[in-house]
Amino acid sequence: LNYLVEKDRREIIKNLLTGLSRLEYRGYDSAGIAIDGESETDVLLFKQVGKVAALKAKIDADTNLNFDKKFMSHVSMAHTRWATHGQPSERNSHPHRSDPKSEFTVVHNGIITNYKELRTLLEKKGYQFESDTDTECIAKLAKYVYDSQKGSKFLSFTNLIKAVCKELEGAFAMLLKSTHYPNEMIATRRGSPLLIGVRTAKKLKVDFVDVEFGAGDITAVSAEPAVKRDQSRAFLSEDGLPQQIEYFLASDPSAIVEHTKRVLYLEDDDIAHINEGELHIHRLRRDDGNQSSFRTIQTLEMELAEIMKGSFDHFMQKEIYEQPESVVNTMRGRVNFEENKVTLGGLKQYLATIRRCRRILFVACGTSFHSCLATRAIFEELTEIPCQGELASDFLDRKTPIFRDDVCVFVSQSGETADTILALRYCLERGALCVGVTNTVGSSISRETQCGIHINAGPEIGVASTKAYTSQYVALILMALQLSEDKISLMERRKQIINDLYELPRYIKETLAIDASLKQLAKDVLHKEKSLLIMGRGYQNATCLEAALKIKEVSYMHSEGILAGELKHGPLALIDENMPVILIMTKDSLYPKVQSALQQVTARKGRPIIICNKDDTGISADFKTIRVPQAVDCLQGILTIIPLQLLSYHLACLNGVDVDFPRNLAKSVTVE
Ligand code: G6P
Repeated sequence: LNYLVEKDRREIIKNLLTGLSRLEYRGYDSAGIAIDGESETDVLLFKQVGKVAALKAKIDADTNLNFDKKFMSHVSMAHTRWATHGQPSERNSHPHRSDPKSEFTVVHNGIITNYKELRTLLEKKGYQFESDTDTECIAKLAKYVYDSQKGSKFLSFTNLIKAVCKELEGAFAMLLKSTHYPNEMIATRRGSPLLIGVRTAKKLKVDFVDVEFGAGDITAVSAEPAVKRDQSRAFLSEDGLPQQIEYFLASDPSAIVEHTKRVLYLEDDDIAHINEGELHIHRLRRDDGNQSSFRTIQTLEMELAEIMKGSFDHFMQKEIYEQPESVVNTMRGRVNFEENKVTLGGLKQYLATIRRCRRILFVACGTSFHSCLATRAIFEELTEIPCQGELASDFLDRKTPIFRDDVCVFVSQSGETADTILALRYCLERGALCVGVTNTVGSSISRETQCGIHINAGPEIGVASTKAYTSQYVALILMALQLSEDKISLMERRKQIINDLYELPRYIKETLAIDASLKQLAKDVLHKEKSLLIMGRGYQNATCLEAALKIKEVSYMHSEGILAGELKHGPLALIDENMPVILIMTKDSLYPKVQSALQQVTARKGRPIIICNKDDTGISADFKTIRVPQAVDCLQGILTIIPLQLLSYHLACLNGVDVDFPRNLAKSVTVE
């Protein structure tokens, strides 16, 4: 949105499309925009299936569109869709409208669970739906409320959308514009993320203060009192110049960071109203007093360069290569290598509670779940507290009993995964201490947990998670180290781990140096195969599961992670001279047991590729090997996953997969 900032239509469209392309990494199947037309009561909609580039091509090809038209005030919106209700198609893509004149236009993330009831009701009232989406009923409902209360002087845009929100069940983050309220926008959320970026003209002194508001309907203006308004309702600065201001709203900061770094995160049931350059925040209902009455304007630390690919071909490749630095960023300011001490500021107040708890549950999905499995053994060893890993969806399906003396750790790169958030709320309700481990400052999980750790891996854009995995791994080990700092009997063990944390960036660099041989291996040996089994045990079990997930996700090759101890209980039946197998056999206390798994495989004519330590001389020259530096057992998994991340990347490239956006997957799954 812009106020008193002259923009032509070309620039408005460009800003929308660039914002969308920054969000493409979250997964998409179609995209669309709504912009102001020739008059205030005219809205132009463009929609297209596929990538943002396809939408851009469609708009560029529109010969009727006047790209040079100038606007002093303008409200527009854009969306990339990942289908939940209704297949990917032009008519199902957003923005959705209330009627052919677009009296109300909406973009929405999340799911309206009662949309069927709403749709039936609205259809009975004569509304004709154009799409199969849940979203369309929001626009239609807004028109219905507007038409039935037309003429009421209380019917501000805010009150209207309040009435709409009261009817909605489920999760949403949405933006609305209306031809009845030109140059105004409503932004509201419940369960899905939404933030507002603010940019003001450089010459003008406008310090935004925290937005404060009281109970119920009271609102606050975000500009500081020194800024006055003149009769034309425009802001004036102290020297009498008009106040130019732009707002950028998005579900993810990467969409807007190139315009402004000053952002305000909305909370559930906040209704933000922007009009004539002013931002007001309303609450849907009178709060019970537990709600914070502040919304802080924060400064984002993310640089746009960080979210660009640089010289790499794909984000996934870039992110794999960033790991020597990203693990350092996870440890920065937290580990004192001389004194063997770990300090995690975000847990400080809660250490005693955690040490006293009866058990620790790690709850996560996908790759984040694997980081929990990878560190569970060392967590139990160092803390002597029973630990269990839980997949968030299954944890909820089982209605797992949770008690006040449980500690629940929610691990999520995005901090927005719906299953993990629901599990978090379930545990909060039962009084457990909830700890968040996320990569996204300001995300729902980091806000709703009582304490936690930001893993600081930097933005991860490739849908397949790589550097976030190794940073989660390190963060969880740091947590275990801090919890065990008072245990004299563990001094030596802790020292050994902290020493190798220091060495970790060097070990990772050495591991990345074998990339060319992995590319060759992918090309010569594995590329044409249908399936790949990855085996290991103990600390390496998580590596096997995570590697198989990576291979499936990005190369579409079938792959299975197998616990070597379970081999004889079934998977052995798959083994013959044709079945490709990777066996992880690094030097730890389970080495002899993995050797016997190797024998079981070779006895069935299997010829596994072995991931082993660099200086392991005990492996017959008959086998192909992938050699990695040796680290202390609990950190070895960071060095064994890296060659497998690279292998999956090369297999994906050989298979012609759009590596950063594999089919059917999304980076951040904000639906159940
Ligand atoms: C999606 C992504 C995975 C990710 C999982 C959990 O499925 O495709 O890469 O591991 O969500 O995401 P989170 O953001 O909670 O770590």
